[in-house]
Amino acid sequence: MKGGCTDQQASLREILKERFLLGAALNAAQIAGHDPIALEIVRRHFSSISPENLLKWEAVHPQPERFEFAAADQYVAFGAKHGLFVVGHVLVWHQQTSSWVFESAPGGTLDAEVLLSRLEAHVRTVVGRYRGRVQAWDVVNEAFEDDGTWRNTPWYAALGEEYVWRAFELAHQADPGAQLYYNDYNLWKAPKRQAAVRLVKSLCERGIRIDGIGEQGHWLLDDPPLEDIEAAVVDLAKTGRQIMITELDVDPLPRPEELIGAEVSKRIVLTPELDPYAEGLPERMQQRLAQRYRDIFSIFAKYPAVRRVTFWGVTDADTWLNNWPAPGRTNHPLLWDRQGRPKPAFDTVAEALRRG
Ligand code: XIL
Repeated sequence: MKGGCTDQQASLREILKERFLLGAALNAAQIAGHDPIALEIVRRHFSSISPENLLKWEAVHPQPERFEFAAADQYVAFGAKHGLFVVGHVLVWHQQTSSWVFESAPGGTLDAEVLLSRLEAHVRTVVGRYRGRVQAWDVVNEAFEDDGTWRNTPWYAALGEEYVWRAFELAHQADPGAQLYYNDYNLWKAPKRQAAVRLVKSLCERGIRIDGIGEQGHWLLDDPPLEDIEAAVVDLAKTGRQIMITELDVDPLPRPEELIGAEVSKRIVLTPELDPYAEGLPERMQQRLAQRYRDIFSIFAKYPAVRRVTFWGVTDADTWLNNWPAPGRTNHPLLWDRQGRPKPAFDTVAEALRRG
């Protein structure tokens, strides 16, 4: 503690220097300037931003001929104004995609050519608009099941693996300077990360650009085990690509085991036992959260392949885990509490980064 500076005043970005980027996902209200507390934290501690929802297909491309770029424009302008590395999330996913995208003619199945032309129009328009201003894109999200098989989404059902190749090719054509990533959750499970590694190889063999793999990182206090988190970093790094933790949060609330990960289509009914810390996180739990964050950041700091760690939210007030998998809970997964005060986990992250 030099010159009376406590860790709580430290800037995580300054501690990190430029070893890796530290990011936060921002929501539309923050970008519109309605959350000065969160924005102050972002300016002080972060070097990168991701859009929580405002660049998803349903937000920017609600109708075949209609794009809505107002919020996304503000987001990109915010990043430029503050000198932040701006991530685009996400071009191709089976969730939060406007329903017209998967519509077929009455009685027919979804036509591959029609779907491909929708994909082309979307990627060209969205990536093209922000060419040179969005530095990196999550091109495809969640293409695999936990067992490593292809997820049978409308994309895959109509186009097979080709939808992934085309999405990366199109994104590259629309902005040759942008970094392009594959993003998924539960890559700590070996079969799933092997599928991601195979995907990198298959793109590479076809001469298609892919710069990195994002492990979402929606984790719990004890799951996944640290060994698995580390093994995933090691294995993914063997692809020679950048590794990112793209949506980090550590959920201290109870959750059924089958919901480990981030399957947004799965939801459970709210019961009082699922919401035990509505009055605040007790000290003992704060300490467990802090220890967990220390452990995972010690792993990230050890591997130069880790190029960015992004939190999925800024303070506990705006975490999506207040509403997933059960609606209306009081959750506490981030480094800042609801009032924007740093939690003990902030200190352990700062410490792990200083040491690493
Ligand atoms: C979440 C958002 O945080 C929520 O606000 C929204 O209701 C659902 O999506 N994996 C992803 C993110 O890639 O886009 C998801 O974000 C969380 C899981």
